Amino acid sequence: MNDSLELISNDVENCKKCPLFKYACHGVPGEGPSNAKIFFLGQAPGVNEDKTGRPFIGRAGQYLTKRMEEIGLRREDCFITSTVKHFPPANRTPTHEEIAACQPYLIRQLKLINPKLVVLLGKSAQTIKGNPALDGRIVFEVIHPSAAMRFTKMAERMKREFQELKKIVERF
Ligand code: URA
Repeated sequence: MNDSLELISNDVENCKKCPLFKYACHGVPGEGPSNAKIFFLGQAPGVNEDKTGRPFIGRAGQYLTKRMEEIGLRREDCFITSTVKHFPPANRTPTHEEIAACQPYLIRQLKLINPKLVVLLGKSAQTIKGNPALDGRIVFEVIHPSAAMRFTKMAERMKREFQELKKIVERF
């Protein structure tokens, strides 16, 4: 059977591979076109994402969307997801075990969408580095928007990183 984003979303919604599902309202599989050239990978859904089932719609998401727009990217043209697809209680960092349990969904998404460029937002996202699902793709690391929102220096860094990202996208 061919895989699809719908199947993956369905599997995420019913997932019990780690304890996170117990505390969450919704799975947050990610969103965007199945042929997106650019794939953004964050850490974990927050409270707003948990309520709606949509990735990056809270403050960090709005911040990220703004940075994307500044370099001419339309959010709706990109695929956006996180390393774990359920909200970790109290917004804590997901554990290595939770990230590992959730990784098969991310790998399915990468294989299906086949993006040219994968943007890793923050440290948790870097756990996918070295995985064969990234082979042949451009991988670009930036800081997580939540950190950039909090510290001026980090905000400046994120803007610089996005200017580098712009150059890569312009070469497509
Ligand atoms: N931060 C993430 O990493 N993912 C989301 O969906 C929201 C905030």
